[in-house]
Amino acid sequence: MNYNEIMEGIKGIVNNPLRKFKPDELKKIVKKYTETHKKSKELYDRACKIIPGGVEHNLAFNFPFPLASKRVDGCYMWTVDDVKLVDFLMNGGPTILGHNYPPHTKKVIEVIKEIGSCHGITNEYEILAAEELQKHFPSCEKIRWLQSGTEADMLAIRVARIFTGRKWIIKIGGGYHGWSDQLVYDLHIPGTKTLESHGIPKPVFKFIESVKPNDIEALKQLFKEKKKIAAVLLEPMGPESGANPVRPGFNKEVEELCHENGALLIFDEVVCAFRLHMGGGQAYYGINPDISIFGKIVGHGYPSAAAIGGRADIMQYIAAGVGGGRKRAYCGGTLAANPLTCAAAYWAIKFVEETNASEKAGKIGTLLANGLNEIFKKYNLPWISYNFNATVHMHTSAVMSLDMDNPKHFGQIRERKEFMEHLGAALICENIISVAGSRFYTCMQHTNEIVDETVAKIENICKMIE
Ligand SMILES: Cc1ncc(COP(=O)(O)O)c(C=O)c1O
Repeated sequence: MNYNEIMEGIKGIVNNPLRKFKPDELKKIVKKYTETHKKSKELYDRACKIIPGGVEHNLAFNFPFPLASKRVDGCYMWTVDDVKLVDFLMNGGPTILGHNYPPHTKKVIEVIKEIGSCHGITNEYEILAAEELQKHFPSCEKIRWLQSGTEADMLAIRVARIFTGRKWIIKIGGGYHGWSDQLVYDLHIPGTKTLESHGIPKPVFKFIESVKPNDIEALKQLFKEKKKIAAVLLEPMGPESGANPVRPGFNKEVEELCHENGALLIFDEVVCAFRLHMGGGQAYYGINPDISIFGKIVGHGYPSAAAIGGRADIMQYIAAGVGGGRKRAYCGGTLAANPLTCAAAYWAIKFVEETNASEKAGKIGTLLANGLNEIFKKYNLPWISYNFNATVHMHTSAVMSLDMDNPKHFGQIRERKEFMEHLGAALICENIISVAGSRFYTCMQHTNEIVDETVAKIENICKMIE
């Protein structure tokens, strides 16, 4: 599916009434889910007494109640009720080799036993992992390890402001760059601006603005109005990992605009690195960003994994150290750059390259998207699927593409989000776990047969729609 076809498809979904489950079918889904996941329910009830809302992950399924996992392996997850699910959640994106890829697990265990997990000073793995990352991301002349994508994005805008001496940061509406105060702005659905920003004083957003996805004219206008733009921050596939897909050429237009105006371009590669391409969004789209952000994907799911990389003249402002009052972008993190995570990163990058995992997972992604489109046509549903290699989107309610300038759309957020929850539950009943009922991350362990089975199971779901 090309960009224009995708956009036509999305428009067709958001401008027409939502296609929902037949009420009887929805009842059956809830019944089956409830009966099959009794232990998950018990754990959820227990969790509710000690954990706010009873669940910790934003991407967890909450309808009719969240699931608890027992273990993961390859491309499967087993729940506490011993239900085996085909895993397309893949830990929220980082897992490309498949869970517990044995050579990788072996290396990590060796590090725990022989080196120790966290030292508090430099360990060689920190340098090895940075060198390995740089091999695939040559724009990163210098790299610093951090603990989460949120931290890396937060630091990126700080250092961009120091380097340029300017204040304004522009993001693309709907983009997710973690949950630091300033970047909880215009999240998920473009145009919602401060909708999700309770608890954050409005002045925090004084120098943050967003433009609609792919709207280069609006961005040009902002450059005229604001003059002092420090950086544009974007996800290379488009906001929300391409849920609102990037228009071909847009990334290049933004790069040129930034550089004509003395602003920095920050590429948030948290999902793209190794998943879209070994060299991330920058290699895929042929862009040379000034700063790059890496998250969970660099550690292949091991904790405290993230990094910021970029031009040496910019990165010099984030050298470590305490005090002295020198001009720098302050940052820290006791557990950052620990040997365990850096070894996990070093070996993961090596194994992903060696096994050609990104390409394999990408081909599976294309098969899945094509298979889904065939059944949507067969059942005359307006739904669409498309993929950016190993990231597959399935738009059924297209909630993230509602137009906040259209009064008819705003009131539909809840209903369309709810439908995705219903769909997520229906997928679980078919033994498939996805990202929020609308996204599938593939890994190199997913086979053609698994894709065929998945498509057949989703066909069962299509039959339940009104
Ligand atoms: C594009 C992008 N940037 C930043 C983040 C935040 O990363 P973390 O969850 O490690 O804080 C995410 C998380 O999903 C992401 O998808």
